[in-house]
Amino acid sequence: MNTEELQKIQIIRGDITRLQVDVIVNAANETLLGGGGVDGAIHRAAGPELLAECRTLNGCLTGEAKITKGYHLPAQYIIHTVGPIWHGGNKNESELLKRCYQNALKLAANHNLGSIAFPAISTGVYHFPIKLACRLALEAISDTLPQTPVIKQVIMVCFNDETCHAYEQSKLLITCE
Ligand code: APR
Repeated sequence: MNTEELQKIQIIRGDITRLQVDVIVNAANETLLGGGGVDGAIHRAAGPELLAECRTLNGCLTGEAKITKGYHLPAQYIIHTVGPIWHGGNKNESELLKRCYQNALKLAANHNLGSIAFPAISTGVYHFPIKLACRLALEAISDTLPQTPVIKQVIMVCFNDETCHAYEQSKLLITCE
């Protein structure tokens, strides 16, 4: 665990579609053709050109990540990643969720983007337990950041208090390890 890198991670409560960062991450599904939750909010805020670009991407496998422009969002780009659906924890869900964060960071770094914001991937419609998801997210990010020095700011965006609390607790636990 890289606790030094944890310092680059901020935890905020808010709406990811309003953030003025280089790139926001979308918790999409494998079609990349939109949906509910944060996926729906991002498509609504970005406008119809986003769907048109997504149609050219030919979907995205769970754990993988693809990038599009941000269109009418304050963010320049959107990285679409597909989190695992929770099936009880014996279908490699933890590894796949960590891969979402790792691949999103590497894709952002490959595009020379310095600030990135994440929603709590898989913790909504996909029912991944929030506490475990938040700890896995922080572990994956703090372990990947040393390989992506161009990234200076990572924002974990919480849409509810439960998620904020889970991130704060995880960050504390990891720092004390
Ligand atoms: N800003 C930040 N976070 C948000 C926002 C928003 N505007 N809207 C929702 N969230 C939060 C949810 O509260 C949850 O904590 O994003 C987290 C992820 O929840 P979902 O959006 O339901 O995503 P997920 O659980 O990964 O399920 C993905 O849902 O919307 C569909 O097309 C999507 O099929 C895919 C599935």
